[in-house]
Amino acid sequence: MGATAVIGLQWGDEAKGKIVDLLTKEHDIVVRYQGGANAGHTVVFDGQKFKLSLIPSGIFRHNVQSVIANGVVIDPASILGEIESLTSRGVAIDTNLMISDRAHVIFPWHKEEDRLMNDMGVGKEAIGTTMRGIGPCYRDKIGRSSAIRFGDLFRSDLKEKIEKIAAIKNRSLPGLAPNAEAAAQVKVMDAGEIYRQYAEYAEKLRPFVADVTGYLLDAVDAGKKILFEGAQGALLDIDYGTFPYVTSSNSSGVGISAGSGVPARYIDRLIGIVKAYTTRVGGGPFPTELDNEIGQKIRDRGNEYGTVTKRPRRCGWFDAVAARYTARLSGVTEISLMLLDVLSTFDEISICTAYEIDGKTTTHFPANAEDLRRVKPVLETHPGWSEDITRISRYADLPENAKKYVARISEVIGKPISMVSVGPSREQTIAVE
Ligand code: IMP
Repeated sequence: MGATAVIGLQWGDEAKGKIVDLLTKEHDIVVRYQGGANAGHTVVFDGQKFKLSLIPSGIFRHNVQSVIANGVVIDPASILGEIESLTSRGVAIDTNLMISDRAHVIFPWHKEEDRLMNDMGVGKEAIGTTMRGIGPCYRDKIGRSSAIRFGDLFRSDLKEKIEKIAAIKNRSLPGLAPNAEAAAQVKVMDAGEIYRQYAEYAEKLRPFVADVTGYLLDAVDAGKKILFEGAQGALLDIDYGTFPYVTSSNSSGVGISAGSGVPARYIDRLIGIVKAYTTRVGGGPFPTELDNEIGQKIRDRGNEYGTVTKRPRRCGWFDAVAARYTARLSGVTEISLMLLDVLSTFDEISICTAYEIDGKTTTHFPANAEDLRRVKPVLETHPGWSEDITRISRYADLPENAKKYVARISEVIGKPISMVSVGPSREQTIAVE
């Protein structure tokens, strides 16, 4: 027992990295278990700003083991870039980083498929992926016959496998293009060149590749403290999110076991992370979206632009129907409420407590994205506060209206709020009494 997990309960970008960073020192191992380089967060360490995508933020503490488990899909060029950028700035990376030999490898054909398929229109609008090849790599994992795992990079049949898969992809890729002109522009997969490049990546990454699941199971037996770091947010979960406008992994709490091999019963603290409002990047329904000056004010105050793709994030009021659903689904034991300071200076702040659909009011989150698109949010409005709260360190010192807002969010989600964040630095985190 004794494992902790940090899970985003909205559509990602809930500032999970900050909470993971705060908790890292109390743990022996930090584990990334799903997603890939579609995730991105900024960590400030020793006054320097670092952008991380695949490598867990535990990497800044050398005595903490950073682990990328089997559920992650990894672009070797991307992780090597991260390793190089960290080491060049003085962060030691050696035995403190492990990559699972069961993790799947992203190849150039996955990125080309992502580009071609994003516009295909599975629904009313494009998914708007991060174009990192995430979905196509997971699809090949499930399909099995054209997938390559990290451990395979060191086997003698790698060249043969790459040649076989590249030939298949060269036949299938042009078929994904919308017309003949686009088909003619599809990148040709050069198996020889890809093999040469990936063999080189493999040699550089060899020291880090290990049987991570075996390691984690031993760690559990030895009573080591493990911290699971979720990527994206539960509303982007492939099974339980706003399908098809989701990512291709289980980004809610349900993904931890499958993505790492550690049974869920070892996790006794599960922290759900929510922003004090809601954001979304990419396509898909968003009931509380504010496509107006209030949404723009949230975007400006919260600097709501994508870490990976730089896209402006869509902004809206806190959606308690969605957060209550994902908190229950993920089995969270407590909530961290982030970016409360962004809501200072608003005269009024709203919370969506129910949805209206087909003349009925419900607090259930619909399974179908088109139904979700049709719901009308039932909003309750709270008076705001004008004070700057970024320097407040005691919960009691928050403005009354801010405390009432926090208490109401906890009530509507149905979980205790243990931490409130009022700024990016570690010190700007308030324990809720
Ligand atoms: P993919 O994960 O690149 O396939 O993108 C699928 C959807 O998930 C798109 O709407 C992306 O914008 C969204 N997405 C993927 N990763 C993140 C993330 O880390 N934060 C927020 N949204 C994400």
